[in-house]
Amino acid sequence: MAKVAIVYATTTGNTEALANAAKEVCGSDVYFASADSADAGETLGAGLILLGSPAMGAEQLEDSMESFFSSIEGQLSGKKVGLFGSYDWGDGQWISDWSDRVTSAGASLVGIVKAHLTPEDVDLEAVKKLASC
Ligand SMILES: Cc1cc2nc3c(=O)[nH]c(=O)nc-3n(C[C@H](O)[C@H](O)[C@H](O)COP(=O)(O)O)c2cc1C
Repeated sequence: MAKVAIVYATTTGNTEALANAAKEVCGSDVYFASADSADAGETLGAGLILLGSPAMGAEQLEDSMESFFSSIEGQLSGKKVGLFGSYDWGDGQWISDWSDRVTSAGASLVGIVKAHLTPEDVDLEAVKKLASC
């Protein structure tokens, strides 16, 4: 099983840029997948689970991440989870709601990184730090 699992959804590449930055610091011991093809067992088996989604709908997760996250939500107790994603006009409600779901599921939330539209260097550095915890 991988040390770190990175599963993400993206529509225009912004959240994907964060996912790629996180992957860079993980070396080869990483399970990296998009939410529409991610394996729940591989994800849950990792020592650290990093999940990424843009804000969509009205402060919702992107559909494929909503579907993937719902499928593992009941099995997150005791896991270490970090969240990241990109947004535009909102105030980050989508990721604070997501954080609440993670902690309600009994997981330990190791951090969140939210980038306004295209991630800047500071966002990429923050997600790299998240991946190395
Ligand atoms: C249909 C749609 C719904 C969106 N809903 C929100 C929203 O509720 N809150 C927000 O802050 N941004 C919202 N956005 C903006 C996206 O989160 C933003 O463009 C983000 O950078 C997309 O990241 P991605 O390239 O990883 O998909 C929305 C964009 C679209 C196209």
